[in-house]
Amino acid sequence: MGVQIAPSILSADFGRLADEVGAVADADWVHVDVMDNHFVPNLTLGLPVVQSLLKHSPLPIDCHLMIEDPDRWATGYAEAGARNVTFHAEAAHAPIRLARDLRAAGARAGLGLKPATPVEAYADLLPEIDMLLVMTVEPGFGGQPFLDVVLPKVRRARELVRDGAHAVWVQVDGGVDEDTIGRCAEAGADVFVAGSAVYKGNDPAEVVRRLRAEAERVSSQAWWSGESSS
Ligand code: DX5
Ligand code: ZN
Repeated sequence: MGVQIAPSILSADFGRLADEVGAVADADWVHVDVMDNHFVPNLTLGLPVVQSLLKHSPLPIDCHLMIEDPDRWATGYAEAGARNVTFHAEAAHAPIRLARDLRAAGARAGLGLKPATPVEAYADLLPEIDMLLVMTVEPGFGGQPFLDVVLPKVRRARELVRDGAHAVWVQVDGGVDEDTIGRCAEAGADVFVAGSAVYKGNDPAEVVRRLRAEAERVSSQAWWSGESSS
């Protein structure tokens, strides 16, 4: 599949969401951060806003659920039409059942890992999911500094998915900008979420182009190059 860029609307103007999404129409996904003030200490938006956004977005929606009890809530986002739904490993009670429910509802299933959560514990679940989200900040807020300490886990995630029978994308989220995206690509990420880097400047589309160019340049020469498939 190659490099995919997913701008996070967490740093966009919530009063003009349709316009803000339209401004990044050359990206691959719109990343929507759902926070419940329990799993993370912040509150954003929920299913009604995602349903409205689905009517206006030119891009598929990538829902990142930072919520407790995703077993109860996540499938609703898939049924609404979100193309990818990521729930957190730390919050799910029955991750295999939930991933199967998401796929049955027509979505890709993503499994999210906070910075201190090891990826190896989930190696046997990889056939059940379509994407591993390796958080590169503690989830909850945009604009935090990138955690280089997580890069070895990105690398281990790439090694694990490389050994699997089906393609699992490796997504990074948090502190991804023009300085850090190359390190993520080198380590093994192929899906890149960027919030403040895209939306805090004057030209979101130009930032998306630059992020993509840098990620493609680095990943084409990376140790895992050629091993990312669709
Ligand atoms: C943080 C969210 C991110 C956030 C990233 O918990 O999951 O998607 O929007 O924002 P930046 O790119 O500013 O770190
Ligand atoms: Zn996110």
